[in-house]
Parts: sequence; C-alpha cells; structure tokens
Amino acid sequence: MEPLAYRTHPVSFTRRGGRLTERQQNAWDTLGAYVLDVPRHGPNTSVDPHYVLDTAGAFGREAPLIVEIGSGRGEALVHAAAEHPELNFLGLEVYVPGVAQTLVTMRHAQVENVRLVIVNAAEALTTMLPAGSVHELRIWFPDPWHKSKHRKRRLVTPAFAELAARVIEPAGTWRLATDWEDYAEQMHDVISHSPQFSGCEWSPRFEGRVLTRFERKGLDAGRLIRDISAVRRTP
Ligand SMILES: C[S@@+](CC[C@H](N)C(=O)[O-])C[C@H]1O[C@@H](n2cnc3c(N)ncnc32)[C@H](O)[C@@H]1O
Repeated sequence: MEPLAYRTHPVSFTRRGGRLTERQQNAWDTLGAYVLDVPRHGPNTSVDPHYVLDTAGAFGREAPLIVEIGSGRGEALVHAAAEHPELNFLGLEVYVPGVAQTLVTMRHAQVENVRLVIVNAAEALTTMLPAGSVHELRIWFPDPWHKSKHRKRRLVTPAFAELAARVIEPAGTWRLATDWEDYAEQMHDVISHSPQFSGCEWSPRFEGRVLTRFERKGLDAGRLIRDISAVRRTP
C-alpha cells in the first residue's frame, strides 16, 4: 500500500502544533522512551497498517491493558495508572504538547505503567492494536464538534464502534463520558444498536476518573456530565 500524503476521510482532530514548554521538553528528553515509536504511513499521526504493537513487549510485562483515547494532558491516564500499578495503561493522543505534559505528570507521580502513542486512534484501532487485546477502552470528553456542519468529525460513530469491538476483549468494557448532551445521545444510540456490545447504560460518574480540565469546563458552563458504559459481547 502506498503511503498517503493526506487523509481522504474527515478526522476527529485538527492539526495543532504548539511549542513545548521547558518543563515539557525536559520531560521529553528524559522520559521520551515512554512514547512509543511507531512506523508511519504518511501523516505524522498515521500508523503503518502492517504494524502490530507488541503490547506486552511495550510494557515489559503481561498485564490487563487499559487504553485511553484522546488522553490530552494525561490527567486521568496518570491518575488511574498511579491507582492501579498492576495494570498497563496506553494513551493514544495526537496533540504532542499534551503527550509531553503527560510525561511531566508521570514524572511527578512516579508512574512507570503508562505508554503513549502519537497516533490517530481510529487507525490504531483498525490495525495497530491486536484484536481482543484491550481489557478496557476509555474515551473521556472527546472533541464535541457541536456545530452541525462538523458532526461528521465526531469520533463515536457506528463504524468506530466496530473498531472498538475489534480491540476490546470478550466481556471487556467500553467507558465514555461527555458533557455534550446530544453527543451523549449519539454515543448511547450507536453503542446500544451495536450487536457487538451489551448492557449499554447511562452510568454513575466513573469513580476511577479524576476531574480533568475538560470535565471542569463543562461543569463550569452548567453542562451535565454523562457517563456511558457497555460490555463487549462474547462472540
Ligand atoms: C476535548 S479533549 C479531552 C482530553 C482529555 N480526555 C480530558 O478529558 O482532559 C479531546 C482530546 O482528544 C484528542 N483526539 C481527538 N481525536 C483524536 C484521535 N482520532 N486520536 C487520538 N486523539 C484524538 C485531542 O487531541 C484532544 O487532546
């Protein structure tokens, strides 16, 4: 397959550069090995479709894998990893300063059970992650794309649910949270209509999630936070 110079489908993110702060650069220089180097297939957030991540190899141990998509500055990811040193945590994020900030937070919390990949999560779920390798998939406060002309950029669609189903192990969990009511409805609709998931429910706030700045922003704006969870059916 020829590498692509650009993507032909809308993606759920915009290209955002941004310089690293001195602290972020310092964390990158010392902890950069936690950011996994994956072969690209065009844009620098792509992944070669022939590449499959050796998940146990990446962590140097076998342990249940928790994947967070759009881990941002890593607040929830690092907090959860510190609370559960027995689990492996993988953050998939396209925003480089966010990944660098995650390294800063990791250093502060002294956690070692986190790995990061700078990648479009949709591509990572299509080929990079082995089928059935994920114990729990988390998406906290995905970009809402709330204008109707931008809705096609939303991450959680029926096609995306198929990708989630590919990587989540049988009886594994998919958790999501958003502060945008119509996106919450869309998520619930997509997952409850997917034959691959059962028990799609409006859930109480997931107690394993620390308050991130995006959740805080939603609360400050008076928006309701909706949590959803579902279980991957056993084929
Ligand atoms: C609104 S922010 C929420 C960040 C974090 N989850 C939180 O609650 O603070 C959404 C994040 O998802 C990332 N993102 C959006 N689409 C993505 C994709 N296809 N693959 C990986 N990351 C993505 C963005 O770069 C951004 O950091």
